[in-house]
Amino acid sequence: MPTSSSPPEAAHPGLEAIVRPSAMIHDYLEKQVQWSLLPDNLAEAARYGTLGGGKRIRPVLVVLACEAAGGSAESALPAAAALELVHCFSLVHDDLPALDDDSLRRGRPTLHVHAGEPMAILAGDLMLAMAFGELAKMPLQPDQVRALVEELATGTRDMVVGQVYDTLGGLPKDLPELEQLQMVHRNKTGALLKAACRMGAISAGADRKTLDALSTFGEAVGLMFQVVDDLLDVTQSTEHVGKATGKDSALGKRTYPGLLGVDGSRKVVDQLRQQAFEALEPMKFEDSSLQDLCSFMAIRTR
Ligand code: IPE
Ligand code: IPE
Ligand code: MG
Ligand code: MG
Ligand code: MG
Repeated sequence: MPTSSSPPEAAHPGLEAIVRPSAMIHDYLEKQVQWSLLPDNLAEAARYGTLGGGKRIRPVLVVLACEAAGGSAESALPAAAALELVHCFSLVHDDLPALDDDSLRRGRPTLHVHAGEPMAILAGDLMLAMAFGELAKMPLQPDQVRALVEELATGTRDMVVGQVYDTLGGLPKDLPELEQLQMVHRNKTGALLKAACRMGAISAGADRKTLDALSTFGEAVGLMFQVVDDLLDVTQSTEHVGKATGKDSALGKRTYPGLLGVDGSRKVVDQLRQQAFEALEPMKFEDSSLQDLCSFMAIRTR
């Protein structure tokens, strides 16, 4: 989260949309997840990977989508925590020497630097399992819980597919370069953000029209989020972002600035923000929190 160093986005209304749900989510992750059932060393590592200062964008999307669809924030918390556990697991493994080989995350040593590589691998495995355990706590009918399990499984599967495309290749060969890039980003990052919006809608028992609108919104913000992440890698300092920057091109990653330049990528961010807003337009939601969060995600600098 932005701190007292007053980043340019500090006064942005999107931050207001994040603050309330993210405090609830942090509290839930801290107190309701059953860390105490684990051996101390594993609990310490998993807590380190989960509770160490992320922006909580995905679980906030779960909560805000649930509220937009008429549900309560409290009722969505286990689903929100589940999605954040998968996201944090994905970061722990993304940082491993075999993948991006990063030593800084959220302004502190990555989990494998902190606790060793074997523990980082195993704590990531655990976080994934705990995520699905959280879904079982949702106060819903069995068919709704099943729908949530399907969403989380699909989002996680597509994230892993995207990580394979990003790291090991395997993309369809005859696709134009820009479509290949979109395919990497929609999978490795977009899938969990889309799942967040869909899971929020399902948690509220949303009708088909609302689910579809939130899903289209999630697709647009999901891709947008990774385009912004690519931009941060080339425009921000490691110190400001709290993770290594200036690395993507050195690692030979496919990125938006690499293909379209910084200005071209910023235009794509604008278009995707516009698409996200248009997806919500027909819903006439009373509250603008989702739009505010989307605007914040477009201009964030960390
Ligand atoms: C970083 O995600 C990884 C990407 C998919 C771009 P976030 O920027 O949401 O990371 P945290 O959770 O706030 O640290
Ligand atoms: C992350 O993409 C996608 C994940 C599934 C974790 P990046 O590798 O660009 O994320 P950062 O920049 O390390 O946070
Ligand atoms: Mg990566
Ligand atoms: Mg990485
Ligand atoms: Mg990145």
